[in-house]
Amino acid sequence: MRKKIAAGNWKMNKTEAEAIDLATKVAGVTIPEDTVVILGVPAVYLSQVQKAVSGSPVKVAAQNCHQKLSGAFTGEISASMLSSMGIEYVILGHSERREYFAESDALLAEKTDTALGQGLKVIFCCGEPLPVREAENHVDYVKKQLENGLFHLDSSALENIIIAYEPIWAIGTGVTASQEQAQEMHHEIRTMLTDKYGAEVAGKMHILYGGSVKPDNASELFGEPDVDGGLVGGASLKSADFEAIIQA
Ligand code: 13P
Repeated sequence: MRKKIAAGNWKMNKTEAEAIDLATKVAGVTIPEDTVVILGVPAVYLSQVQKAVSGSPVKVAAQNCHQKLSGAFTGEISASMLSSMGIEYVILGHSERREYFAESDALLAEKTDTALGQGLKVIFCCGEPLPVREAENHVDYVKKQLENGLFHLDSSALENIIIAYEPIWAIGTGVTASQEQAQEMHHEIRTMLTDKYGAEVAGKMHILYGGSVKPDNASELFGEPDVDGGLVGGASLKSADFEAIIQA
């Protein structure tokens, strides 16, 4: 039985005091036994958030890392820095990174290898823009992203990957994919995993949905058989909303 995952992605939000306050509140939530809670926090607050949630089951994720382990890359953060801090997860391939920072599939494959090599677990994002969805090419589009970014891995490496399907047209727009749309794509992704790695591996993989997840739509989305939880942006910034999503 796969656990459910409620992952927050704070993106570039919160002051230091607000970040500590929010993490402390999330750490105080009674988390259902079959649920894993992860906070994707700005890198500058990783240490403080880690302290704020210590003693609770809440896990911490970075939102990005560099493909190289060290060197002259001013302003960047490496996977080895994250693992040296005891950070467990890193989000890679978010559509905002792909679009605004020109992160290609090839670069993301490299980042994924580097992160896994440092013992990090990777939340690997994929998802199509609106014109691709309207042309009904979304399944092929996501398949390419996964083939190019992940499918070079062997099945043992895949144990440390969580896939997040985030249709770009649903991110921050208030337009959520319907539960049928989410289930359709998650099922397609699991079929791709089955074809490549076999049913046993595919059956263990967590596939999260992201894109305008809110307290009032979380239950129906997470109730779908192939939706193993959510990667939540805006609604993870308010402790009451995120708590409701954790409970869902
Ligand atoms: P929203 O929940 O704000 O739509 O953001 C989704 C997202 O991008 C999570 O990574």
